[in-house]
Amino acid sequence: MKFFLDTADVDEIRQWNATGLLDGVTTNPSLILKSGRNIKEVLKEICDLVDGDVSGEVAATDYDTMVNEGRALAKIAENICIKFPTTLDGVRACKTLVDEGFKTNMTLCFSATQALLVAKAGATYVSPFIGRLDDTGTDGMGLIGEIRAIFDNFDFETQILAASIRTVNHVKDCALAGADVATLPPSTIEKLVKHPLTDKGLADFLADWEKTGQTIV
Ligand code: G3P
Repeated sequence: MKFFLDTADVDEIRQWNATGLLDGVTTNPSLILKSGRNIKEVLKEICDLVDGDVSGEVAATDYDTMVNEGRALAKIAENICIKFPTTLDGVRACKTLVDEGFKTNMTLCFSATQALLVAKAGATYVSPFIGRLDDTGTDGMGLIGEIRAIFDNFDFETQILAASIRTVNHVKDCALAGADVATLPPSTIEKLVKHPLTDKGLADFLADWEKTGQTIV
């Protein structure tokens, strides 16, 4: 499973990119607002930093303007991935940009039938929002399983990019359910590696090592 970082904060992206574990980045209008940056400038900077796909979202809701905005975003860099909302106009715009050879990410997906349409449009990614479904009392992770089964039934190549991930268990369950990608806020990716028994065990080993009086290099 690939890990994307869900942020437009260049410092955080730089920090995680240095681990060599980052496969891409996702942004959305709320994250651009939080960054306080110009969308095209910040996307260009992120695309230059990261080897993998970087999603930038259109702001229009009608087909013609979405297509224009998508083409403008596509000019930023080779690794840009144009993000459209999963509406009828959005799916149409996705199909147009896919036919023109661009990568696309269909966001705000909350149902298996939305994901099916997105796959038929040939999108590179579909982004089901796990946490926001959980917020309404619906099983967000169940949606990942449904989409996985449907895509496997028909050999769709669209990748499942699990979004709105809030917890470490979300990440584990996405991996078990067969999501291709999880996009994580920096606070969650940090928690993946933490375990109190690792910290305690390491402290014990270091104390014993000190007593040996040895060095390795
Ligand atoms: O990737 C989408 C994500 O940014 C939404 O997360 O926590 O606002 O539902 P959240």
